[in-house]
Amino acid sequence: MATNVLIPFYSSYGHTYQMAQAVAEGAEGVEDTDVQLRRIPELEGARQAMSGQDAYVQAQEAMSEHPEVTHDDLRWADGIIWGSPTRYGNMTAQMKQFIDSTGALWQNGELEGKATAMFTSTATIHGGQETTILTSLVPLLHLGMIFVGLPYGENPQILTTDGIGGSPYGPATLAGGDGSRQPVEEELLSARNLGRRVANVSARLKGL
Ligand SMILES: Cc1cc2nc3c(=O)[nH]c(=O)nc-3n(C[C@H](O)[C@H](O)[C@H](O)COP(=O)(O)O)c2cc1C
Repeated sequence: MATNVLIPFYSSYGHTYQMAQAVAEGAEGVEDTDVQLRRIPELEGARQAMSGQDAYVQAQEAMSEHPEVTHDDLRWADGIIWGSPTRYGNMTAQMKQFIDSTGALWQNGELEGKATAMFTSTATIHGGQETTILTSLVPLLHLGMIFVGLPYGENPQILTTDGIGGSPYGPATLAGGDGSRQPVEEELLSARNLGRRVANVSARLKGL
């Protein structure tokens, strides 16, 4: 039986989406793995605030082929890899809003024992690369999920003093203050490696 890996992501301007695609590529490279990319729903207030920006409109159009994530997607998944840009060092309200809708799944323990992981995007190198992932751990642990990080051994690209994203807590990219920086190969490599690692861990947790 295949291992199911779900990648729910939110992205305003496409950086987190590019990372999500790389995570998917890594997971798809593991034999007998089914991978689904799903959009975390936009909040109406955010849509109104940003819909005058070309970069936002173009990015939303580019990712519109992916359906919005549902509770049944979470049930389907053996491993769930979340993607969210930072908002003041935390996950976006969009991701939190979706997590806050999972009360019934929490009550029934439906996500307990599933592998989980997180990747992010920040404008600046000290703007939440690590805190966004670490603070996301709190609700994911309440839901009983088993957190998978990004070890240095498999990821020498994060053992660096260069200005690239990523940490042992998870892959990350940097968008720059004006959003013009795009994910570089080292960051995409970390994303692919996390996808592969979660697919492998999920298969083992299933006892495959
Ligand atoms: C309300 C708001 C708060 C933000 N807070 C931070 C922050 O604390 N640190 C930072 O580096 N970037 C911050 N950003 C920038 C976003 O993280 C950046 O736009 C994002 O990483 C781009 O990813 P995306 O293209 O996937 O949306 C903030 C952006 C918004 C709109």
